[in-house]
Amino acid sequence: MSKNTFLVVANWKMNPLTLKEAERLVKNFEGGIERLNKRDFWEKINLIICPPAIYLGRLGRGKHYSLGIQNIYSETRGAFTGEIAVRMAEDAGARYALIGHSERRIHFGETDEQVNLKLHACVKSLMTPIVCVGENLEERNNGETTRVISRQIRSAFHRISILNLPKIVIAYEPVWAISTMKSGSSAEIDDPNDIMGIVILIKKVLSDIYQKDVADRVRIIYGGSVNPTNIASLLEVNTLSGVLVGGASLTVFDFLPILRKAYGREEE
Ligand code: PGA
Repeated sequence: MSKNTFLVVANWKMNPLTLKEAERLVKNFEGGIERLNKRDFWEKINLIICPPAIYLGRLGRGKHYSLGIQNIYSETRGAFTGEIAVRMAEDAGARYALIGHSERRIHFGETDEQVNLKLHACVKSLMTPIVCVGENLEERNNGETTRVISRQIRSAFHRISILNLPKIVIAYEPVWAISTMKSGSSAEIDDPNDIMGIVILIKKVLSDIYQKDVADRVRIIYGGSVNPTNIASLLEVNTLSGVLVGGASLTVFDFLPILRKAYGREEE
């Protein structure tokens, strides 16, 4: 895959409610992309679909897109009712794994330590981890964004070898910008300048732990209310390697324009 490949990660969360709908969605995405008639589409866009885990094995491996799992467990096997081991996810076709998504942290009490253990489990596999970090509204309003992101990165990467860095993706998702966390209907995303600042911050923290040239190459993506309208301003943040899309990845109507604009980003 080329260095300029842009990651578009679809996080379906606990949707849709049937395998049939999930299959239809994937089929419609593929059909829509085919109709764009861009022969180099899949060289420029790395589409990763993260459906509910129960659909993974049954959705099949797409010709072009990859599958990701929304959560994994840190233990390799055993008496952990309801959990999914890394090896199982891989066997079901997942090539990527979201780790430490804010909804896991908020609703299921996932801690920085658990995120670190999950990252350790994942880097031992062939899957690419996507480590999610982001401040909540209160932390942001209190001016704690830098402290929170630095802490999340430092603990997630605790004792992770530098050799694993090139395969890890970091998703910056300010919690307050996630569509379902908002009280109003505003489609507000973070200010592109602020996102640029966070990308610099993450790389700085990583270069303090590891070394600058390796840290500079870590891929950082943005998530939080990405939609067909605001994608253009995110594409201007040229240090971003991709986007993580929740709500807008559940309809062809919203998702295709995002893919199309991401594909044409160099011409924007
Ligand atoms: P959203 O979700 O695009 O609906 O804000 C993003 C996410 O939580 O991954």
